Amino acid sequence: MTGNAILVAVDDPSAGQWVDLLRAHSGGRPVRSLDDIGDPGDIAYACVFRAPPGLLASLPNLRLIFNLGAGVDRLFSDPLLPMVPIVRAAHPDLSMRMTEYVVLHVLRYHRREPVYEAQQRARIWESHAQPAASKVNVGVMGLGVIGTEAALVLARIGFNVAGWSASPKTIAGVATYHGKDGLGAFLAWTEILVCLLPLTDATRGILNRTLFAQLKSDGAAGGAYLINAGRGGLQVEDDILAALDDGTLAGATLDVFAQEPLPPESPMWTHAKVTLTPHNAGDVSPAVLIEDVVAQFARFERGEPLLNVVDRGRGY
Ligand code: NDP
Ligand code: OXD
Repeated sequence: MTGNAILVAVDDPSAGQWVDLLRAHSGGRPVRSLDDIGDPGDIAYACVFRAPPGLLASLPNLRLIFNLGAGVDRLFSDPLLPMVPIVRAAHPDLSMRMTEYVVLHVLRYHRREPVYEAQQRARIWESHAQPAASKVNVGVMGLGVIGTEAALVLARIGFNVAGWSASPKTIAGVATYHGKDGLGAFLAWTEILVCLLPLTDATRGILNRTLFAQLKSDGAAGGAYLINAGRGGLQVEDDILAALDDGTLAGATLDVFAQEPLPPESPMWTHAKVTLTPHNAGDVSPAVLIEDVVAQFARFERGEPLLNVVDRGRGY
């Protein structure tokens, strides 16, 4: 008979909190950390965030992986990833934090904040024409758990909202496009582009010069804007900088980068049209996610269907 231990395979400062929380909520299942794996044969469950590549393959009786983030691109970059079911974080708290980020930065462009911030520094008292939100088109790439929530809230505060996904969707108050065939029309309509896609073979580098050139730049928003809180690998950073410099993009807000932390020499840090944050758009607290984690293990043991299962074929 194999064991039912849980391994906290977390290589970031939250590791200790995960171990403590799991010990308090694991229902008697032993909890191991990266520093103290014990007998690898005892481990049935792995809670993973930035796990060292190859580690999971060294656990012969692993039965289920819980990815503690929403994005699984890092997990899939492990060439030895074992063939066991993978579930991922998908929690209303995470969706709402991401939605806050999106709404903050859409409103920042809509309400001309970069202009007013510059004016304040120069002591200029000047008001500019302010279109209604209902005149501004916001396009959301990725209509999953997070993108759908963000699109609904943007629509609720008055923007014209459209979304783009792999498969067809119906979302009240949101125009929807899908697949490669729907992308051109979606982009031609969009002024403020919000990217909430997962990073997969199909989406890597999708935010590039060719795509930026298709955005609507002559609308009420006063130019075309990019907000990317998906993954850094979705964007071609040199293309963003070139598009900002030649006016194809009027501004870019980036939470994610190809290399994180963003190297000090990156021109992104000082570019006047870039707003950046350190991949914290959607931090979710372990204390909030813990019930979902333990509930999935219990569901698995009872033989019930798992929730938020990652599709290996699609890569998300
Ligand atoms: P979901 O898996 O629920 O949604 C993904 C969406 O992207 C789906 O609508 C899917 O379409 C669409 N999609 C995937 N591939 C394609 C494609 N090739 N063409 C068109 N659409 C595509 O993910 P979540 O909403 O939970 O999260 C999205 C991403 O946000 C995560 O993968 C992660 O990278 C990022 N994230 C970033 C955080 C941060 O702090 N910056 C925090 C949390 C998440 P369909 O519905 O048809 O399958
Ligand atoms: C996530 C993230 O994917 O934190 O959840 O980026």
